[in-house]
Formats: sequence, C-alpha cells, structure tokens
Amino acid sequence: MGREFIDLFDKWAISYDEAVTGKDPEYRAVFENYDTILTEVTNHAEGNVLEFGVGTGNLSQKLLDAGHHVIGIEPSVAMRDAAKAKHPNLIVKDGDFLAFPQLDMPIFTIVSTFAFHHLTDEEKDKAIKAFSVLLPSNGKIVFADTAYENKETKERIFNKAKEQGYNDLLYDLTTEYYPMIDTLRTLFEKNGFYVTFKQMNDFAWLIVAERQ
Ligand SMILES: C[S@@+](CC[C@H](N)C(=O)[O-])C[C@H]1O[C@@H](n2cnc3c(N)ncnc32)[C@H](O)[C@@H]1O
Repeated sequence: MGREFIDLFDKWAISYDEAVTGKDPEYRAVFENYDTILTEVTNHAEGNVLEFGVGTGNLSQKLLDAGHHVIGIEPSVAMRDAAKAKHPNLIVKDGDFLAFPQLDMPIFTIVSTFAFHHLTDEEKDKAIKAFSVLLPSNGKIVFADTAYENKETKERIFNKAKEQGYNDLLYDLTTEYYPMIDTLRTLFEKNGFYVTFKQMNDFAWLIVAERQ
C-alpha cells in the first residue's frame, strides 16, 4: 500500500540530489531551502529516530551527525543503494509507512521529508494511528512535506506549473496525494497528537506533532 510511486523513484535515484540542490528548474521551488528544512527537522528530533522515505540519505546524515540512532525505511531499491553508497553506516531497511520490519530499539521520534504525500489521506490516517501506538507519550512525529494551505493555493500552484510548462511537476501534482493542511491537522488530532505547522517554501511545510 502506498507503493505505487516506487518505479518513479528507482529511475530518479541517480539524479535526485541534483534536483534537491536546485539544478532541475521544475523542482527548484519544491526544494527551495531544502538544506534548512532538513536541519529544522533534525533540530526537532529527540532520542532514537525512525525515518521513512530515506531517499538518498540526506536527512539521515544530519540525524547521524547530531548523534541519533537512526533506522531508515525506504521502499525503492535504487534509493536504498544510493543512501548506502553515501552513508555506509546507515541502517536502511526495505519497507514503507504502513509496512516495515520489526524494530529492535524503542523509537522517540518519527521523521520524514518529502514523502508522506505518497499515501492517500485514508492511508495517512492509518499510518498516524499506527505511529500513535509505536510512540511513547510525548513522542514526536516531525515531517516536512508538500501540503496546501487552502483550495486557492492549490489552484495557484497548479496553474503556475501549467503556465511554466513544467510537465513532470504537473504530473506529480495531479497523481500524488498532496493534502490540505486542515486535513492533516484533523488526522493528527483525531489520533491523539498536538500538531503545529510552519511554512518552509511555496510547497513545503514543517509538521511537528507530539503524542499527548
Ligand atoms: C521525494 S523523495 C524524498 C527523499 C528524502 N526523504 C529527501 O528528503 O530528500 C521521496 C522518497 O519517498 C519514498 N517513498 C515513496 N513511497 C513511499 C511509501 N509509501 N513509504 C515510504 N517511502 C516512500 C521514495 O522511494 C523516495 O525515496
């Protein structure tokens, strides 16, 4: 479940780091402030960390540098290989937000950047519910991901991509499950989290949720 985009990431793995550093004009605005976003997620992490959608391991590296024990989960073989090639000491296992191997240490923080939108809103609900069971009281979910503040923002972003002829970005915007901020707020709160949002660029929001 939620794995329908894996082929795309297997193909993207080789050039992914060029996109996040602004070399692909279509994704420049999506990944604007990428390094700052990853640093901010890292600054909110506490204790042992479970990371979903590791990609090429850019967030994992920051978490390791900050002294955290990290278990990475990544469904794309090519992304796992890229992450392991860059960070040989990183633990990266096959899995996804909804199905992952049994963990051999207690987790205090669950992190993910630019990945949660691969789940439908129904799947996001299931994942957050499972995380509320996995985390202790005061445990945290710290995500950064694309989300829309409202319907007008969604329309503006879509129309701009169309005007610019950014067809890859348009394809993502129409096929992936970018949520509304209000939907995310409802999902976190109904599963027992106190949640805050901070806009990081035109697309991405920092989401910090604490289990009550
Ligand atoms: C845009 S990349 C982000 C990579 C990295 N987190 C970063 O910030 O650069 C999205 C990642 O999520 C992974 N992914 C896709 N579907 C997923 C799922 N259902 N569960 C977990 N990860 C998923 C992809 O394989 C890819 O590595």
